[in-house]
Amino acid sequence: MRRKLAAGNWKMNGTLTSVTEVMTLCATHKDPGVDLLICPPATMIRTLGTATTDHAMHIGGQDCHAQASGAHTGDIAARMLADAGATHVILGHSERRADHGETSADVHAKALAAHDANLTAVICIGETLAQREAGETLDVVTAQLHDSTPDSATSDTTVIAYEPVWAIGTGKVPTLEQIGEVHAALRIALTSRFGQDGDAFRILYGGSVKGSNAAEIFAVPDVDGALVGGASLKAEDFSPIITALENA
Ligand code: 13P
Repeated sequence: MRRKLAAGNWKMNGTLTSVTEVMTLCATHKDPGVDLLICPPATMIRTLGTATTDHAMHIGGQDCHAQASGAHTGDIAARMLADAGATHVILGHSERRADHGETSADVHAKALAAHDANLTAVICIGETLAQREAGETLDVVTAQLHDSTPDSATSDTTVIAYEPVWAIGTGKVPTLEQIGEVHAALRIALTSRFGQDGDAFRILYGGSVKGSNAAEIFAVPDVDGALVGGASLKAEDFSPIITALENA
């Protein structure tokens, strides 16, 4: 059985005042039936890691550099995230692929760096609206999955997040059939590459997940949780999503 994962990606949001949101989540979900992860800005990792020491809440980064150290002004190495208290790191988010020109080869190299630092890599993939309308979705996401995920990845060290670019922050969500079709294709790609362990990788859905649509999305086969943006910033919005996942 795959343990489900509710993950929040705070993107470029969150300062000291946001700690109370995470503490509220911890108090509400003391003994969660699912794994919990918040990925705040790097500036908040140590603070949140320390604040949640006694809780079943994981803290993660949103990106790391492929190199272990060096002359890369403004970048953060995977070991630095781990040193600050992170256990996970999001890699290849579509906003990084778009804003910073990250390729799947870059994401592959970052995933190796994350694994070297004992971080679980949350590898993001997803098609644009133009790609979906051109009927290329399954080709695009399986190629991104293949090229972004190292051969050495395992279900313990790697989580896959399917996030259609056109569904992120737009309020638009694919139909349940569309989500199911992609997750099924990703599962087949994982099992044909990684054998039995391919069945144990968690595949998250991300893109406009809210309390109001979470339960139906979590009922889709091979949806093992969610990567949530906007609705993860406030405990009152994220908590119903966690509860829906616990009940799925
Ligand atoms: P929204 O939940 O705000 O659509 O963002 C999804 C996302 O990009 C999570 O990584």
